[in-house]
Amino acid sequence: MKPKAVFICQNCGFQSPKWLGRCSSCGEWNTLIEEIEEEMTAEYSFPPSEPVLYQDIKEFKKPRIKVKIEEFNKVLGGGVVIGSLVLIGGEPGIGKSTLLLQVSRDFASQEEKVLYVSGEESLEQIKLRGDRLGVRGGKLYLLAETNLERILAQAQKIMPQILVVDSVQTIFSSKLASSPGTISQVREVANRVFRFAKSNQVSSFLIGHITKEGSLAGPKSLEHMVDVVLLFEGERDHSHRVLRALKNRFGPVSELAIFEMAAGGLQAISNPSAFFLKERPANEAGSVVVSTIKGTRPLLVEIQSLISSTLFTSNPRRMSVGLDHFRAAMLLAIVEKKLGYSFSGEDIYLNVAGGLVIEEPATDLGVILAAVSCLKNRPVPSGMVTFGEVGLSGEIRSVGQALPRVKEAVSLGFETIILPQGNIALLEKEDLPGVRLVGVKNIKEATDKVF
Ligand SMILES: Nc1ncnc2c1ncn2[C@@H]1O[C@H](COP(=O)(O)OP(=O)(O)O)[C@@H](O)[C@H]1O
Ligand SMILES: [Mg+2]
Ligand SMILES: [Zn+2]
Repeated sequence: MKPKAVFICQNCGFQSPKWLGRCSSCGEWNTLIEEIEEEMTAEYSFPPSEPVLYQDIKEFKKPRIKVKIEEFNKVLGGGVVIGSLVLIGGEPGIGKSTLLLQVSRDFASQEEKVLYVSGEESLEQIKLRGDRLGVRGGKLYLLAETNLERILAQAQKIMPQILVVDSVQTIFSSKLASSPGTISQVREVANRVFRFAKSNQVSSFLIGHITKEGSLAGPKSLEHMVDVVLLFEGERDHSHRVLRALKNRFGPVSELAIFEMAAGGLQAISNPSAFFLKERPANEAGSVVVSTIKGTRPLLVEIQSLISSTLFTSNPRRMSVGLDHFRAAMLLAIVEKKLGYSFSGEDIYLNVAGGLVIEEPATDLGVILAAVSCLKNRPVPSGMVTFGEVGLSGEIRSVGQALPRVKEAVSLGFETIILPQGNIALLEKEDLPGVRLVGVKNIKEATDKVF
């Protein structure tokens, strides 16, 4: 079979027989690259299978291996499933190699044999990082290699329990003519590592770089080829990193873990609320603490608002960082309409402190209270937390998971919680000493009670 040339969109995987300036599938410009497509040979395919009676199928046990980093286990759904393939995506420099080397260190210290393959760094560079992370040895093997066939041959020889490939974009198969990082190479690497993981029961991790737009650079199409997709995210200017599952064939995708990048590597943050509130200014107008849900866990974060007169232009600015822009604009419009304030002639800035992104309607009431606090130049009482969704007529709607939100606030010593009236009934049965629950039905009532 003669290899034929195709043009493949590096963003979405769309294939075209001829070059196009703009991908007709995802609309991105200049993303089509010529690649040689080869026929799948028989060796790639699984052995033929036979139909089996449902009741004859053995129960599928999912043995897992855990590491000391409990937060990492949690995100995976309780440790890594033996023989599974996990893709970890994140922007360059976010700490993927650091995290995986730490995880490798822990596996190795548990007498698991680990093969860490790097196509990006020399052994000396990895060791430098390893020394900083307290790698002590154990059965941790490093391999600096970019050729997929050689990597798999070494893996076959060593036969580790854990295989790490850093990164999928730097590895290439000599069976394909395309260069490393192209979509066909990246798919080939993922595919072959997947086969290796399954046929040898080796738990494997693939590191992937993500482009600014958030897609796994080119291989958006990798997501369906692997068992688990983890995302490692954070802001360059902040030390915290969020690890969460985007897909998990063996567990929920709701868990997320928060780490802090420190000199000795990534440290799990066991009390994220305290972490995100530690720099909150006391008695400042415009600052409100909201109880939000990130993944499955409650998290207290500070919403800040700043309002200043618009100068020299008739277009007042509406900026929000960490919040949904449209929702923020809608909430400000509700404040104008229902509370009678006027923001024309004012620039309004809203910010979620600490570089977090929260896009949960339950933070609506917090956004409104922050804006009103700023407008009135009156701080909200310091021991106060709020949550509640706000509707277009200013009504405050009840939200899910009210109890964990309240408990999180109580555990951090907050005394007053402004929350939807609709959530009160259920909470009154709970034993919540030392906290005052203030139910509110609309934003007028809420601002009256707070200020
Ligand atoms: N000595 C150090 N102390 C603290 N942080 C460091 C140190 N050296 C590197 N880092 C951090 O580690 C990050 C690189 O992490 P790395 O795991 O290589 O990222 P990735 O593999 O995602 O590209 C750097 O951006 C830097 O912030
Ligand atoms: Mg790296
Ligand atoms: Zn495309």
